[in-house]
Amino acid sequence: MDKIRIRGGNPLRGTIAISGAKNAALPLMTASLLTDHTLTLTNLPDLADIATLATLLDQHGVGVVRNGSVEDGVRRNVQLTAATITNTTAPYDLVRKMRASVLVLGPLLARCGQARVSQPGGCAIGTRPVDLHIKGLQQMGAEIELESGYIEARAPRGLTGAQIVFPMVSVGATENLLMAATLARGRTVLVNAAREPEVTDLARCLVAMGASIEGIGSHTLTVDGVDRLHGACHAIVPDRIEAGTFAMAAAITGGEIVLRHARLDLIQAVAKILSGAGVAFEERDDGVKVSRADGALIGVDVMTEPFPGFPTDLQAQMMAVMTTAQGAAMITETIFENRFMHVPELARMGANITVHQASALVRGVPRLTGAPVMATDLRASVSLVLAGLVAEGTTELNRVYHLDRGYERIEAKLAACGADIERVRPN
Ligand code: UD1
Repeated sequence: MDKIRIRGGNPLRGTIAISGAKNAALPLMTASLLTDHTLTLTNLPDLADIATLATLLDQHGVGVVRNGSVEDGVRRNVQLTAATITNTTAPYDLVRKMRASVLVLGPLLARCGQARVSQPGGCAIGTRPVDLHIKGLQQMGAEIELESGYIEARAPRGLTGAQIVFPMVSVGATENLLMAATLARGRTVLVNAAREPEVTDLARCLVAMGASIEGIGSHTLTVDGVDRLHGACHAIVPDRIEAGTFAMAAAITGGEIVLRHARLDLIQAVAKILSGAGVAFEERDDGVKVSRADGALIGVDVMTEPFPGFPTDLQAQMMAVMTTAQGAAMITETIFENRFMHVPELARMGANITVHQASALVRGVPRLTGAPVMATDLRASVSLVLAGLVAEGTTELNRVYHLDRGYERIEAKLAACGADIERVRPN
């Protein structure tokens, strides 16, 4: 298995091109199931999760063609054509690889009147149920049974519009129900919907495909169902989590990085918190410049929240940044119940962190030291890369496949800014 080896200590300087957002690309790709015409997505990131979803869509009968000009050795466009759906089952082997596969449920049910999707089960960051997806579809008239680990859903006479009030904000449930509602009979109102930029990106693409959606970007989405959707061409929003991660690479190493294509309006909560810690953000025509002057980082408190709050997907990275700050930082996780798996690994590198329930108290230490480390999920893995960039000596990150799920060519992007980082492949 590949490893990432980092020798810490270099301040990063340079430009990093931010890719299209993984978490926008995944629901957008499943939206292709809603129409028999071609959906073209541009700015597609080249990631393991995208390949997994392409395999899943292919086995539903969707034609998947990567084309367009090659940038950084990657074809960034994909054409998805679901002329006929040949199979409405999403099997365990693919869903267990990636939970976002459950996003085929709403589109398949709306288009075909049936879907059989493996239950995703728990994962490293918590139990992560899909009850809100299921309840919402039931409110829209679907008959759903849970059998042998599968969600068996039927709507032989089609779905009907409903008022759905989410008891908590869920990105995935909002996306699944939004897609289902576009082809339902009548009006669906999603109350307490997620406002994450990836949800907004999906809603905009659905409108370009002929859907009728009001309230995009707000807590209430009103969808008037239409008989059919058509094709469209949509550019995927830049990845705010990738941008935030590289902003933190500049912060932790005391460097200066231009995040090309990044949008400051999508990382405002992160910019505000990091500004308090001594990091400067500047909006430019080509993206966002992030820099830390010579002064030390200062400990700041952070609480994760749904958008526009501080994203849970940047919590682990922020914790890495705070390990060497002056003073203390209280980091509170409110979205997932078990998202501190990176704490013991950071501690092995010399960090001083005490966890009490949903909060971690990070007391800054003068330096981290390199160590062999591994992580159990994507964002935890990248937090260890950030720690490795500033640690004395060599850090070796194992289980690199987690990183490859969500960060495109991360070692190349960081090396281009002066990081001493390499991927080591087994002989
Ligand atoms: C998405 C993101 C993930 C991010 C998360 C929160 C994708 C592919 N993944 O995940 O990177 O960390 O949003 O911003 O976009 N919940 C329930 N019942 C449900 C659904 C969710 O209890 O039916 C709970 C979850 O366990 C969690 C919380 O709601 O505690 C938020 O989860 P949700 O927003 O649904 O996350 P995902 O869509 O899975």
